[in-house]
Amino acid sequence: MHRPSFLLALTGAGLASAQGFSSECTDISLTDNWLVATCPTGSGSSITSSVFLNNKIVNNNGNLEWVENGRFLGSCVDCAVSSGVLSCTCRGNFNPNVAASLNLEEHISNYAGHLLSNQTGPITTIPPDSSVPVPSSFDLSLSLVAPFLGTDCSRAGAILGLNNPQPCYYINPGGVGTVQYSAGIQSGNQGWEIVAYEDPECTSEPVYTFTAGDEGVCVAFQPYAAAFGVRPLWNADY
Ligand SMILES: *[C@@H]1O[C@H](CO)[C@@H](O)[C@H](O)[C@H]1NC(C)=O
Repeated sequence: MHRPSFLLALTGAGLASAQGFSSECTDISLTDNWLVATCPTGSGSSITSSVFLNNKIVNNNGNLEWVENGRFLGSCVDCAVSSGVLSCTCRGNFNPNVAASLNLEEHISNYAGHLLSNQTGPITTIPPDSSVPVPSSFDLSLSLVAPFLGTDCSRAGAILGLNNPQPCYYINPGGVGTVQYSAGIQSGNQGWEIVAYEDPECTSEPVYTFTAGDEGVCVAFQPYAAAFGVRPLWNADY
């Protein structure tokens, strides 16, 4: 019974594709700055997956470069992907509108159907295939009610745009005390998990976990929630 495991090992070693995702995959798009594509698994089926480019690339004076948590979208606009190449208009030190581009195939490939970035090292495990479809829109917001307004979401004041995956999202512009909310209502959730926590560091037991099914439901937080972990549930490298 040694032969099957030998074959499996060979398959594992051959996971990294030779051709590049732009020729192997179909329905390649840049949607809300997520790279999305449907790629063959190598065993007859295909998988749709996504990569959140904002966490992988930086704008360095009008040059797009691979940097973890690079956040290029803070200073680039009008991005598109064609033949595996990302192009945007990016701010440079002396020119606000530099035409910048980066070949995404340098670090992003199809691994058994999943688009993954290997910029932090070779891919050794393939994530399981999620049953949550890749959203058609990634935009998401959470409207929050301050405790002195009760738990009526029509009185929501703060609106958080949460369309970036974040382990812990806490905003306190005044910096005084801990900002907490008594209720929240989400909009636009096509597959995110938003976990509300009592403390700004997201270390408490979850107060509530929003998923796509809670769309439009006003949730009263008990205890009050201060911070939010935001995670994609679909096939995503982020
Ligand atoms: C990442 O994959 C590319 C192909 O997309 C390959 O050329 C490169 O050597 C790989 N780098 C690492 C660190 O595995």
